[in-house]
This record gives sequence, structure tokens and C-alpha cells, in this order.
Amino acid sequence: MAGTVTEKNISGLDQLFAGMWTDYTSFNPHARVIYDQILAREQKSNAAVKALINDHIALRTFDVASIDLEQMARIFLKYGYQACGEYEFKEKKLFAKHYEHNDPRQPKVFISHLLTSEFSPKVRAIAESVARTFTDEDMQRDEVLFSGRRWAANSKVYRELLEESEYAAWLYAFGFRCNHFTVSFNDLKSFKDLSDLNAFVRSIGQSLNTSGGEIKGTPNQLLEQSSTLAGQVELEFDDTTLKIPACYYEFARRYAKPDGQLYTGFIAASADKIFESTNVKSARV
Ligand code: NI
Repeated sequence: MAGTVTEKNISGLDQLFAGMWTDYTSFNPHARVIYDQILAREQKSNAAVKALINDHIALRTFDVASIDLEQMARIFLKYGYQACGEYEFKEKKLFAKHYEHNDPRQPKVFISHLLTSEFSPKVRAIAESVARTFTDEDMQRDEVLFSGRRWAANSKVYRELLEESEYAAWLYAFGFRCNHFTVSFNDLKSFKDLSDLNAFVRSIGQSLNTSGGEIKGTPNQLLEQSSTLAGQVELEFDDTTLKIPACYYEFARRYAKPDGQLYTGFIAASADKIFESTNVKSARV
């Protein structure tokens, strides 16, 4: 891959992910608990392990040109990421791309946006009003990716969006922030397979998303994924406070392609089910 990696831009990138992680764990404490427990278990067999490696992180936005996935991606392109795969989610009306860095320790970045023109004019109008809260300058700042909600929001609009798209409602309620981090199973040493890791996560009192089965994908598809159910948080709207699902934590195991290299893409059918980890109906209590 092209792009020279300098100490300066790696440090900026590390800061970006650290900012996203701090924001994400601040309202998804279950992810922090799981991270700490997995790390502690890894350290029992190898005290030198200092941190878990992320397979990927995921971001959500609307397809309004000034804030669409290409705009979000500019921040990662600046750090040497390159666009690698494109995905369509026909039923959920989403389009997504994934980006990779030439340093394999850096997570892949999965950015999706909602195809707003495929919904009612109301959804498009809300997406446009959200977009108007960002200047082009805002969209170039790393911090925008964990800036949260910067628009006035009310619970009535949230519920209306929920009727049309869980994704739109989530984005309207939470704003720009990481939707999930994903632990790289391949970089763990103390679990024999993803079922073993899932059992460990359950053993520490956490619930997993069972939509489409606990493990999405197969070794033949070269990617297996599982995820927690999003935790519920009390979120303030202008008119009231609602208890709604926030973010989930994901686990991914990758398999080698015939050329011996690990598969780095995503499986749309699996991601489709993983998206449901933030559904209001399936969320944990
Ligand atoms: Ni994911």
C-alpha cells in the first residue's frame, strides 16, 4: 500500500482511536469490563501483553454529501488508510466501505451511511438538518468522529425515525461516535475458538446477540463474528430522557485465504445481523 507512515501520523492516529475508545467506553461500560477481563486472562499466560488488538471499528453517518462516508473517510485517508471493500445492505438501505492501514496493528475502519432518499422525505429532512450542524472545517477535525450529538433532538422525532430505520434513530440520538470496537480473536492466545471466547464473555455476565446465531459467518467465508447486545443508557432529549440501546462490542476471527494471507474483508450478510445488536427490540435490559 502507498503512503509513508511517519511517527507523527501514527501518534495522531493512536490519539484518534484513544479518543474514540474513551468516548465509547464512557457510555458502554460493559465493553470496558469485557476488555479488562480478556486482557487479564491473556496476561496470565503472557505477562508481556499490554493491550488487545482491534480488528476493526465502525462508524455510522447519513449520505448527505457534506457528512457522508467519504467525508468521514478523509480523516483516515490522511493517516495512510486506503479504501478496500464496498458493501450494500439492501434491506437496511445502507452503503458501506472498509479502509485498511499498512500497519496491521491499526484496526480496519468500517464506515456505513444511510441511503436517506430511500426513506420518507422526513428522514431526508432530518439528515439534512443534522448535516447543517457541521462545517467543512468540522468534518476535517479528528475529534468530529467522537463528538457525539451536536444537534437539538427530541424523543418524538427519535420514535418517528425508529419506525423507519433503527440505524437512523441510533445516529440521530447518539451522533458521531464509534458504534463498536471489535476485538481481534487472531491476536488472542488463550482462547481455542470464537465459541470459547463467547462462553468466556457470557461467564462474566454479558449477553450476546443471537440474531442469525451467536456466531455469524463460517471458516469457509473466512470470517466469523459475534457481538454483545448493546447496553441500555439513559439518554437526554430536549423533552425527556429515554432509556435506549447504545453500542455493542464485537469479536472477529479471520481465516487465511488460499494465498496464506488472512482475509481482510467483511461479509455483508453477517454485518446485516450484527447491525441488529443496537436494535431497540432485541437490546438487553
Ligand atoms: Ni463490526
